[in-house]
Amino acid sequence: MPRVFSGIQPTGEVHLGNYLGAVRRWVHDQHEFDSIYCVVDLHAVTLPQDREVLSSKTRELVALLVAAGLDPEVCTLFVQSHVPEHAQLGWLMECTAAFGELRRMTQFKEKGDRADFTSAGLFTYPALQAADILLYDTDRVPVGDDQRQHLELARDLAERFNSRYGSTFIVPEHAIAPVGARIMDLQEPTRKMSKSVDAPQGTLLVLDPPEVITKKIKRAVTDNDGEVRYDPEAKPGVANLLSILAGITGGDPAELADRYEQYGPLKADTADAVVEALRPLQERFSELSSQPQEVDRIIARGAAKAQALAAPTLAKAMLAMGLLPPT
Ligand code: AMP
Ligand code: TRP
Repeated sequence: MPRVFSGIQPTGEVHLGNYLGAVRRWVHDQHEFDSIYCVVDLHAVTLPQDREVLSSKTRELVALLVAAGLDPEVCTLFVQSHVPEHAQLGWLMECTAAFGELRRMTQFKEKGDRADFTSAGLFTYPALQAADILLYDTDRVPVGDDQRQHLELARDLAERFNSRYGSTFIVPEHAIAPVGARIMDLQEPTRKMSKSVDAPQGTLLVLDPPEVITKKIKRAVTDNDGEVRYDPEAKPGVANLLSILAGITGGDPAELADRYEQYGPLKADTADAVVEALRPLQERFSELSSQPQEVDRIIARGAAKAQALAAPTLAKAMLAMGLLPPT
């Protein structure tokens, strides 16, 4: 079975874009691939985090992923900092990456420009991400389009390491989500839905109560021409509603458009579909929130499973580089 690895940061709130673009795909993939999913807390600390918020968000994200349908008996779900091999191989990858190639990473430029304090870790972040992937002999990495450059780097580092020190790592393939997997902001439909926006009305959080979801969708920005058509260029707001409805019901957005003559019913159906799709997740999440020991058990078990896979790969890489094995 091909091996799949992906990661998600425990910062901010999980929104419908994360759910439709990433999490729901992971839930599906776990039955078809040998799947490993990581809550990447070491990546989160490349920017300053509040310590209490970070640790509670980390547990909450694990619970939310389980509530969304990741089955810890089927896949491996763990917290990055619990498997120290990530930081260790991360260092070896920093020594494999060139300064110039890290400097070309566009996400570093964007985040670095926005940050008051630019940590060295923010700069070397893609080397740690390469280590995340390479530790598990990963074949495929399902991520959004924004991660394409980091994935290219992981492939380059694997190839460089293999040619310098002998065949050690599997060179991973991309599995970039198909176009259309991008959910846009409800208030500013030309910008992707994201957790870090000033206008929270445009972002649907997976834990928003049903009435909040309905209200946000009813107030979503559309346009004045009044015709329901799937045209992301000319009608981004309406196209986004159709994409959301299609993403949830599994239909085709252009075909769905034919069923509607007015925006009102489209919005009402989209709101109902989102509320119903998220209902089981929200129910399981609230059950799990009252069983913290169960979440701890899942986290501990995931770390043990992940470490059993990661430790031999790290040992192989260290040996390949000529680091003296401990006696
Ligand atoms: P992030 O929220 O940037 O940590 O992303 C976590 C995962 O969700 C990544 O695989 C992203 O590509 C995906 N993702 C984030 N925002 C969206 C969006 N608006 N639409 C679709 N996928 C998204
Ligand atoms: N950098 C990714 C993001 O911001 C998260 C991530 C970290 C990741 N390590 C990974 C994704 C390894 C895929 C594989 O979304």
